[in-house]
Amino acid sequence: MTHNATVKDNWTKRWTFILAATGSAVGLGNIWKFPYITGEYGGGAFVLIYLACILLVGVPVMIAEVMLGRSTRANPVDAMLILTERENAPKLWSIVGIGGVIGGLLILMFYSVVAGWALDYSWQSLTAQYDGLPAPAIEANFDDVAGSFARQWGWQSLFVLLTGGVIAAGVTGGIGRAVEILMPLLIVFLLILLGYSWATGDFITSLKFMFTPDFSKLTTEAVLVALGHAFFTLSLGMGAIMAYGAYMPGEHSIGKTVITIGFLDTAIALIAGMAIFPLVFANNLEPSSGPGLMFVSLPIAFAHMPGGMVFGSIFFILVSIAALSSSISLIEPGVAWLERHGIHRKVGTTGAALIGWLGGIGCIYSSDFFNSLDHITANYILPLGGLLIALFAGFVMSRDHVKEGVRFDTDTFFSLWYFALRYIAPLGILIVFLHSVGLI
Ligand code: PHE
Repeated sequence: MTHNATVKDNWTKRWTFILAATGSAVGLGNIWKFPYITGEYGGGAFVLIYLACILLVGVPVMIAEVMLGRSTRANPVDAMLILTERENAPKLWSIVGIGGVIGGLLILMFYSVVAGWALDYSWQSLTAQYDGLPAPAIEANFDDVAGSFARQWGWQSLFVLLTGGVIAAGVTGGIGRAVEILMPLLIVFLLILLGYSWATGDFITSLKFMFTPDFSKLTTEAVLVALGHAFFTLSLGMGAIMAYGAYMPGEHSIGKTVITIGFLDTAIALIAGMAIFPLVFANNLEPSSGPGLMFVSLPIAFAHMPGGMVFGSIFFILVSIAALSSSISLIEPGVAWLERHGIHRKVGTTGAALIGWLGGIGCIYSSDFFNSLDHITANYILPLGGLLIALFAGFVMSRDHVKEGVRFDTDTFFSLWYFALRYIAPLGILIVFLHSVGLI
């Protein structure tokens, strides 16, 4: 079984892996979710805790997750099975892979709805629908979008179709080339927008909001959300990164590669925040206004800037593309798993897309369902998956196998990472969990 469970495709360049993994990591989490949860949980202190979670928990777990995929060259479910055999551990560990497959589908359900909003706003910008409108009208416009079943359903269906289309066509050829062009473009446009916000918005207030920590605002819930978001934004704990790790060339150090991805992901989230908050403050919007934040503040800016509809179109199209390069990694683990067991890639993709699509309809219908899926996946399923990955790589696998798997350049770096993986990450996750359910 070990042989036919492994993947045959392989990205030959390290950069292709970096771009695909960055494509997975950079998505709605960075541009849509990070600014609005920062707004909800009070700003600076939340950002600080989030950064600590990325560095001390996210990056160490990501290194482990890539290693598990690369050293088996298999999809997450089979990867865990192969490793349990190799390390003489109970097969129950494959729950990490299966939980990931399910988690990915659950995320796709609400993710595709938000991506649908991004497509809707792309269309609205292309057809100049909000050009010159006053701020209150633009605020009301978002309520219209999020209040219309048919409209959301149409765009969500299109997005799920696109996701399925890319996955059905295979990962290696399309994705690599697409992200090579799209990711740099996204960064350039965010920087232009940042310049615009800086020139016209309330930049100082927003920097203070984002970077002055006021710990009195920091609740237990905020810490749980910061940790959960670190997992969500890095695509960790559900096998997406493990599945991609299976395609990564074998000779490179995973450490440097993952640090590059973590840096890009964090930088893009911070830039998105610095581009969005000045407009929020300058237009007297509430930073804590929730999921609509990006869809209200940016159109207000675009509505009044020269060439705003062109900028708006490009920006929302790029957000949609960033969402697409993430959503494909949500179903790849499941599809790759089915494919290795004789189910044709197109059939597997159709099944996965159908589940995501139906769940998406549930999310459009009920905002409670939408919010619960977001909350449960990000704050529980992903950190729990990450905890199991850290424990498996840290304690179940032999140190030699792990060391061979990651191929770090120096022993010092290995020891530091290994310590973070075995103690800091699991204890951090456990403490946050226990605290959030009131046990400590
Ligand atoms: N990282 C993606 C984002 O920030 C979301 C994602 C989570 C993608 C988990 C894959 C797996 O938008």
